[in-house]
Parts: sequence; structure tokens; C-alpha cells
Amino acid sequence: MRKGRFNTPAADIAERYGESVSFDWRLYRYDIAGSIAHAVALSRAGIISADELQEIETELRAIEKEIESGKFEWVRSLEDVHMNIEAALTKRIGAAGAKLHTARSRNDQIALDLRLYVKAETAEVLTRLRDVQRALLDLAEKHLNVVMPGYTHLQRAQPITLSHYLLAQIEAFERDATRLWDCLTRTDVLPLGSGALAGSTIVLDRECIARDLGFSRVTQNSIDAVSDRDFVCEFIFCLAMIGLHLSRLSEDLIVWSTNEFGFLEFSDGFSTGSSLMPQKRNPDMAELTRAKTGRLYGNLLSILTIMKGLPSSYNRDMQEDKHALFDSVDTVRSELDLFAAMLPELKINRQRMKTAASDSNLLATDLAEYLVKRGMPFREAHEIVGKIVAWSAANEIPPNQVPMAELKKFSPLFDSDVVRIFDVRSALTKRRGIGAPSAENIAAQIKRWRFELGLKDESA
Ligand code: ARG
Repeated sequence: MRKGRFNTPAADIAERYGESVSFDWRLYRYDIAGSIAHAVALSRAGIISADELQEIETELRAIEKEIESGKFEWVRSLEDVHMNIEAALTKRIGAAGAKLHTARSRNDQIALDLRLYVKAETAEVLTRLRDVQRALLDLAEKHLNVVMPGYTHLQRAQPITLSHYLLAQIEAFERDATRLWDCLTRTDVLPLGSGALAGSTIVLDRECIARDLGFSRVTQNSIDAVSDRDFVCEFIFCLAMIGLHLSRLSEDLIVWSTNEFGFLEFSDGFSTGSSLMPQKRNPDMAELTRAKTGRLYGNLLSILTIMKGLPSSYNRDMQEDKHALFDSVDTVRSELDLFAAMLPELKINRQRMKTAASDSNLLATDLAEYLVKRGMPFREAHEIVGKIVAWSAANEIPPNQVPMAELKKFSPLFDSDVVRIFDVRSALTKRRGIGAPSAENIAAQIKRWRFELGLKDESA
């Protein structure tokens, strides 16, 4: 690459500073697929012969196998994955190899490799998201109708079921999945054929290349095609959101695994001990997941900042996008793998959940709604029940045991049927609006998710 223009080799320190092959070698599969499709287009345009195409393709496949077996020798002075593969090809087959880079720049080449990589990794992440959703659904089915307190501000609020909570997590991961699909529509565009930034006087059939490589569309502006890393930013954002959701799930599990809550235990395989305190059983896997989200956000901020204010078309700054991208992909894949393995082994302490849910303060809102159903404006009912709760706390008598005579003093609307308000099961049964946690709704949601997640419907 330097032979024509320069008289001396690059300074060793500059070479080490500027190389990317130590990390972008990971793109080899996409680079080779792109080169083969490009060679096909060159032969269609009459730039290379059918024999040369054959030579190129055969040798590139051989190089691919070598890389996979770890035998390929990566050369730092060749800078990046593109130059390494091209140089190896030319060294082995001569002229045909030297023709490959016709009407192509590393600028459209790297844009192509990255798009192919993001497309492939989108599929990998989607598969793993599904695995986690299935693990959550299995838990929801296994622990059907387990009542527990729902929290706001981490304070006991209203009764829910564990299944309702687990289904909430599935919903969040489903949004992540649809976000990835949406990102894919903008990633699935072929940039190859844009050259350095202004196409080429040698015109290739880009639509044909797109079909060969499985792209739905081709980019419509060569400057934009080599400038654009929006799809990288978006993808890293999608991954950061998955991390956000995993961190919140982690936090719930961590809190619930404390002695104070005692709602669940991580299995031995996913718990850690203390080097000093023999009794400890720590939730490190969930804590690490909580922390890794910070890295994912860091990567998002990195890529956004790298791209900010860059002159249009390609700038070498863009080489730095790969650290953020690869790290986010590796991180989220490992997180999802971990959760798919860890969730099925969670030990749920139903009794602790049930006991916590028997706190009749959780039904204070239901008590207010009892009055509303007898004609009282909600604000008034809210105040009266607030006073009852205060009375109950002051007298150390739980709300469900406040004598009828006392209740009557707060409102004459209270009647003997009020005791039924304090039955948690019926409190849940009554919550049958769309999205609310009645047993019937939960069963319907589980059925829906079994279908959505491609699991057999057991009732059918
Ligand atoms: N290693 C480069 C990157 O990752 C490939 C493109 C280099 N293009 C260039 N004109 N130097 O972005």
C-alpha cells in the first residue's frame, strides 16, 4: 500500500499505534464473503476472467479455513484484516489477487464488513434473548399463583404474583427484540460499490452484489455509505438497553436473595463465597451483570463521541468504533448466556413470599375502593383509609383486624362484608383489567407467550 507514494516504511511506533488487525481480524469471515461477492461482480463487469474468479474464490476459502484453524499468520505491518487477507491472496495467486481491489476501497469494505457483522450478531443476540425469555416463562409457569408483595420505592405496595413479575421481564426483553429487528432494517443495506467516497469509473452491479450477500437494499449515496455508522450506534444502544433491563432484574434478585427478604436463593453453582466470612453466599453473578451495564453505557458514549463532529465520508477515527462494538456484543452475549443458565436454578421460597404478602396493609387501596364502590369519592376514601392505617399502626393492630366498631367510626359505609377485602386471593382475582394480575389474566399471558416464544401449547 505504501510502495508507490512513500520512500520509507512507516515508523515502528506509528505502525503499532495505527494497526487494527489485532482486533479487527474477527471480521475475517465477513471480509472474505464480501471479497468473493466483489470478485463475482468484477467478473460480471469483465474486469477479471472466470478462471481468475475461480482462483480468487478457492484461495479465499482456503485462507478462511486457515484462519479458523488458527494457522493463518496475521502481519501487523499490513495494518488491518482487509490488507492481511488481500496480501495473502496476492502472494499465493499473483495477478488475479492483485485485481481484487479494483473499484473498491477499504472505506466501503469496512462499512460492508461491519454491516455483515452486526446483522449476524443481531441474530445471535435475538436467539439468546429468546432463551432468557423462555427461562423466565418456565419460572412463571413453575411458580404459578405464588403471591408476593409488589413494591414501589422498594416499599410494600400491593399484592402481585411472582408470575406477574416474571412476565413483566419478558415484556421488557420483547421490546429489546423488536428494537433489534427495527435496527436491522437500517443495517441491512449494502454499502459496497461506494468506493472511497465517490464510487468508481468501473461500474459494478450493486443490486446483484446485494443479492449475493443477502442484503435487502443498496445504499443510494456513496458519501453517506462510507460516512454512516448510525447502525453501529443504534446496535450498541439496543445492547445497552438489554443491559439496563438485565441490571434491574439483577437488582431485584439481589435484594430478594438477602436474609431480610428471603424470597429466593441463587443455586450453589451461581453463588460465591467469601474469602474471610465462612457463612457468606453472595450473588456475584447478578452484581457483575449490574456493573457490566456501566461498560455498555460507556461503549455507547464512546461511539457517539467518536462520530461527533467528524468531517463527512471516512476518517480514521472510525477505526475506533470496533472496540465499543465488539465489547458490547461480547458482554451482552455472555450476560444472556449466564441468565439463561442461572434463572432455571433459582430456588424460590414461596412461603416467605406468601407470608410477606399477607401484610394486610397491602390491601389498603382495596379498602379505599370498597368505599368508592359504596359511593364515596376516591379522595375522601383515600383519606379515611389513611387514618385507619395510622390508627392500626398506633394501636399495633393490623388493618384486617381493626374491629368493626372502630371501622364504623371512620365511615358508616363499612359493613360486615369488609372482611372479604382482606383475602389476598380474591384481591388478585378482582384485578382482571387488561394487564392486571388476576390468575385468569396470568394464565392467558402465559399461553400467549408460549405461542410467541415458539413453545408447544400444553392445553392444545
Ligand atoms: N481499519 C480501518 C477501519 O477500521 C479500515 C478502513 C481503513 N481505511 C482507510 N482509508 N485508512 O476503519
